[in-house]
Amino acid sequence: MKIAILVSGRGSNLQAIIDACIQGELSSKVVIVLSNKEEAYALKRAKNLGIKAEYFKEAELEKHIIESHADLIILAGYMKKIPEDLLNNFKGKIINIHPSLLPKFGGKGFYGMNVHRAVLADMRLDSNRGKKYFSGATIHFVNNEYDEGDIFLQEKVEITDCMSAEEIAKRVLEIEHKLLVKAVKKLEEMEER
Ligand code: GRF
Repeated sequence: MKIAILVSGRGSNLQAIIDACIQGELSSKVVIVLSNKEEAYALKRAKNLGIKAEYFKEAELEKHIIESHADLIILAGYMKKIPEDLLNNFKGKIINIHPSLLPKFGGKGFYGMNVHRAVLADMRLDSNRGKKYFSGATIHFVNNEYDEGDIFLQEKVEITDCMSAEEIAKRVLEIEHKLLVKAVKKLEEMEER
């Protein structure tokens, strides 16, 4: 598959996908990385790996995607909604990674560390004390509501011993990278059939 990756920040998930392509774990190719933030570190990472990477203005998103001939769009830490036209033209071909076990801790306001802070607060509730507590990551198809599209893959990780939101974020991020590669692999296999 030809993959376009949309980013807004750090780009560690982007790196996981590109690495898996380079190492031959995935047969796809990342054809373009697009960021709505000019200063996103993800753009630097992609360029360093020889991948075309550009800052874009929202009105030109679809044009960039079409020109890249991408047939899968991955939102990897992309913080904006996808325009309606693009959603309609790429039905079932846009996936997002979210750092919680959706439908829990998803939707407006649940992004970045907010997610993990809310998870930590929930874990600390009396009713949960003494029990194993899990967070995790979710890959879902994208629709016009934040984090509400159909769930494609999910993986949980125990965080009972985590003392801070930062610790939870770190633990979840490790499984995010693996899960995202797994999701692309699964989509590749579905495409081959
Ligand atoms: C990840 O936690 C992802 O689940 C969320 O934003 C974060 C992006 O991290 N949507 P990175 O930019 O891939 O390092």
